[in-house]
Amino acid sequence: MRLRSLLSSTLGFVAIASSTAVDQATLNACPGYELHNVKTQGLTLLADLSIRGKACDLFGPDVEELLLNVTYETSTRLHVKITDPNLARYEVPESVLPRPTSDDHALTPQAADIQFNYTASPFSFSVLRTSTREVLFTTGSHPLIFEPQYLRLTTDLPQNANLYGLGEHTDTFRLPTHNYTRTLWSRDAYGVPNGTNLYGNHPVYFEHRDTGTHGIFLVNSNGMDIKIDDSTPGKTTLEYDVIGGVLDFYFLAGSESDPTEVARQYAQIVGTPAEAPYWSFGLHQCRFGYQNYIDVAGVISNYSIANIPLETMWTDIDYMYKRQVFTLDPDYFPLPRMREIVDYLHSHNQRYVLMTDPAVAYLPDQGYGPYDRGSALDIWLKAPNGSFSLGAVWPGVTVFPDWFNSDAQEYWSNEFAMFYDPQTGLDIDGAWIDMNEPSSFCSYPCTDPFEQAVQQDLPPARTSSPPNPTAPIFVSNTGSSEHLSKRVSHKGENLQFPPYEINNADGSLSNKTSDTEAVHANGMVEYDVHNLYGTMMSTATHNAMLSRRPGLRTLVITRSTFSGAGRHVGKWLGDNFSNWEHYRNSISGILNMASVFHVPMIGADICGYAEDTTESLCARWAMLGAFYPFMRNHNADTSISQEFYRWQTVAQAARNALDVRYRLMDYIYTAFHKASVDGTPVLNPLWYIYPRDPNTFPIDLQFFFGPSILVSPVTEENATSVSVYLPRDTFYDFSTLTPIQGDGRNIMLDNVNLTSIPVYIRSGAVLPLRTAGAMTTTQLRKTDFEVIVAPNNTGEASGSLYMDDGVSITQNATTEVTMTFSGNTLNVRGSFDYPTGVKVSRVRFLDVSKAPREVFLNGQMIGKSAIQHDTDSKVLDVALDIPFSENFTVHVD
Ligand SMILES: *[C@@H]1O[C@H](CO)[C@@H](O)[C@H](O)[C@H]1NC(C)=O
Ligand SMILES: *[C@@H]1O[C@H](CO)[C@@H](O)[C@H](O)[C@H]1NC(C)=O
Ligand SMILES: *[C@@H]1O[C@H](CO)[C@@H](O)[C@H](O)[C@H]1NC(C)=O
Ligand SMILES: *[C@@H]1O[C@H](CO)[C@@H](O)[C@H](O)[C@H]1NC(C)=O
Ligand SMILES: *[C@@H]1O[C@H](CO)[C@@H](O)[C@H](O)[C@H]1NC(C)=O
Ligand SMILES: *[C@@H]1O[C@H](CO)[C@@H](O)[C@H](O)[C@H]1NC(C)=O
Ligand SMILES: *[C@@H]1O[C@H](CO)[C@@H](O)[C@H](O)[C@H]1NC(C)=O
Ligand SMILES: *[C@@H]1O[C@H](CO)[C@@H](O)[C@H](O)[C@H]1NC(C)=O
Ligand SMILES: *[C@@H]1O[C@H](CO)[C@@H](O)[C@H](O)[C@H]1NC(C)=O
Repeated sequence: MRLRSLLSSTLGFVAIASSTAVDQATLNACPGYELHNVKTQGLTLLADLSIRGKACDLFGPDVEELLLNVTYETSTRLHVKITDPNLARYEVPESVLPRPTSDDHALTPQAADIQFNYTASPFSFSVLRTSTREVLFTTGSHPLIFEPQYLRLTTDLPQNANLYGLGEHTDTFRLPTHNYTRTLWSRDAYGVPNGTNLYGNHPVYFEHRDTGTHGIFLVNSNGMDIKIDDSTPGKTTLEYDVIGGVLDFYFLAGSESDPTEVARQYAQIVGTPAEAPYWSFGLHQCRFGYQNYIDVAGVISNYSIANIPLETMWTDIDYMYKRQVFTLDPDYFPLPRMREIVDYLHSHNQRYVLMTDPAVAYLPDQGYGPYDRGSALDIWLKAPNGSFSLGAVWPGVTVFPDWFNSDAQEYWSNEFAMFYDPQTGLDIDGAWIDMNEPSSFCSYPCTDPFEQAVQQDLPPARTSSPPNPTAPIFVSNTGSSEHLSKRVSHKGENLQFPPYEINNADGSLSNKTSDTEAVHANGMVEYDVHNLYGTMMSTATHNAMLSRRPGLRTLVITRSTFSGAGRHVGKWLGDNFSNWEHYRNSISGILNMASVFHVPMIGADICGYAEDTTESLCARWAMLGAFYPFMRNHNADTSISQEFYRWQTVAQAARNALDVRYRLMDYIYTAFHKASVDGTPVLNPLWYIYPRDPNTFPIDLQFFFGPSILVSPVTEENATSVSVYLPRDTFYDFSTLTPIQGDGRNIMLDNVNLTSIPVYIRSGAVLPLRTAGAMTTTQLRKTDFEVIVAPNNTGEASGSLYMDDGVSITQNATTEVTMTFSGNTLNVRGSFDYPTGVKVSRVRFLDVSKAPREVFLNGQMIGKSAIQHDTDSKVLDVALDIPFSENFTVHVD
């Protein structure tokens, strides 16, 4: 169809139709490469690759000479790069994804956990696990193809390989292996359809085997398909089809016993996640379609009246004047009234977040500051002819900030400083950045965005009349520019319709987004860096927020991400629907982000974004969402209202689950801290913890919140029962604390009503819990602790607690506590430099069959009245009243 065949033939290449099946005969004609001139020097192997015969020119002329560079960077990390030595090709800039350095002087290739091996002709390579000689990756007999706009590299895999990652996607957490394509190309993916490319791009996968877990990261931001297929009997393959850049792979050895090790190794490349402010773990409420400031204030009041803790109120683009960023509608969201709302929130220890989109309304000579100032600094993305690259977004025709422009950060920080000025503007606590794929409503070819904006009614008119400007509210209660040494060449390439067509669900690459031919300040073209836009906006926004409140952590939630985004921001899973499928697949979504991609501040829109929710869906989702790291109820403009207080059942469900979430807040905050230090995942799929139990490999309707809390929501509409898998281990019901023995089978839980969610504590955990939830996290931090000791089959358990002031980037003082239980003795040991200001009010020992003879606190016998044993639940409660500021020991005799 389209222009492609014409374009291809004019360029003299073989024209092959859409996404893009290549038959075996054609492929067999590809000669592959021959390796020669090998030079090994210390930890690096360099070699030349020359084409082995007549070029096959599948999607362009084969590059005849290549350079192979293999470097052992650490004992667990191998870096394999294949580039064109004669022509600078695009590579992901260090400014966006800084690469790790390696300075392990003791390392030798032989001592590394994984080894590189090759065959010279035809060239192929494999990566082996040193200890077992097992092949983890091998290009086998698949020819390498390296062309200007097409790279192909294929590995053989075991049958039924357990593969995870390669997102963002809404498919099963364990990826399908039959005829399955993952496409990476940032897209405004309304309705998050499964099987398609979505907002974010993380070209990394972890593979789990009985013998261990390893990881493979392709550092490439060009559009690509990754095809996994087992259609040929006895053969499973994973094939990269990439439309630019270079082949730049990191192979991570992972570990033979602990799957989370590969996550930590991946964090050494993409960075560990940012520490989030303590308050950001509270409940967030948002919707598109709050009509005016009275609506916003009303929701805040109603949460308070319903006794549901609301930490942070959000507002979508409704607040803007004609949907222009950095403006307030003077009639619907007047500044003085909005400032009143923000003041009210802050005086109640609550917070406020507003949305900011990247697209800036194209309004020359109309006194629109954000456009004028950006134009004066000349920071907009450019068309090839030097004019501004225009799109059509919410406010109509727009320009887009070019984050590669060295003045873009200053521009963005300045706009944030002015509009969000605490004295004269809105003193927000976090930022929400949307539409940053970037999204445009202009269909390709976007030759007349003005016409397209008119046709699509942009900006849409308001549907309600302005509110009374004096209505009473709260009445009821109270980038630096990267310079390439060599310019990337795209001479003669087709950046609009490359000969290999990736399986982009929006059709052509520039459709509904920025134009692939647009040029950045550093000369890079959007074709190469498209997938980085959201991440670069994230970094710029993070920096802008930090300069507003120096020294304080902030919360930035983005829609589009690339590998490494989690260093600065969190994410939500985009525009889902209010249906059970999206409720269910949110779990694989959060697992991907939190346990593989290192974007752990992650959640889906609770109760669903588009379409109307139902009472039972919203109740179930409120409870599942209480175990998302980022917990936000968000809704679309035309959907029925879905704040948790709208239904009695939902309100009760939310109160119940929030009580558990808030009591666990220091536990999950500790997990975040650990993630920020070394990349230990905040959420765990079951197989991370039970890697030898194959039944766990596909599970993505249950997960661990932190290391020890197993969440098993009801997953079907109208169901009051759920089949839950329990590995061979002891668990404890979170609400009754009674033990239950798992035996590697599913058990049916019945009578799970609409206000409860099955939650278990994994045995072997010591948990620091607040004794009660609270209406704000500020209040929660003044609530005492209790310690739950959940022993494992050998009568042992351990846990940890990290505390700090919750807001500072650099902490003056922290409290780090380890809690271990063995020999009937709980030892709590730590540095208590950050004053917790609270007490430990009791210890709860689980699975205690008989009442003890005596209990000792720091060697002193405790009075009988402080000890309570329940024979049915087997819980032994020991009441304490000690400041949580020093070590203590409780011994049960
Ligand atoms: C090979 O790769 C290593 C690690 O990425 C790098 O330090 C080195 O400069 C590369 N060598 C060549 C010749 O490209
Ligand atoms: C490396 O590859 C060669 C074939 O090129 C093979 O003979 C050899 O056994 C391989 N080494 C290992 C350790 O697998
Ligand atoms: C693979 O999937 C595509 C699209 O879903 C379909 O057209 C094709 O027939 C499938 N091929 C096989 C071998 O299943
Ligand atoms: C998408 O979800 C539907 C409904 O659950 C399912 O039938 C279909 O197989 C899924 N498609 C993919 C590609 O996973
Ligand atoms: C652009 O995307 C829309 C759907 O969003 C689709 O209908 C249209 O065919 C696409 N156009 C091109 C040129 O790919
Ligand atoms: C759930 O119950 C409602 C009301 O009876 C019904 O309309 C709906 O079809 C049921 N859903 C399923 C999945 O059975
Ligand atoms: C729902 O179930 C929980 C746990 O079994 C129970 O405590 C609660 O009373 C039930 N609620 C209703 C309304 O039946
Ligand atoms: C019990 O926990 C201890 C300490 O966490 C651990 O060393 C031991 O291996 C665990 N035992 C079992 C059977 O899980
Ligand atoms: C940390 O210490 C510095 C210097 O003593 C002080 O200015 C600052 O207020 C302290 N910050 C906190 C959060 O205690």
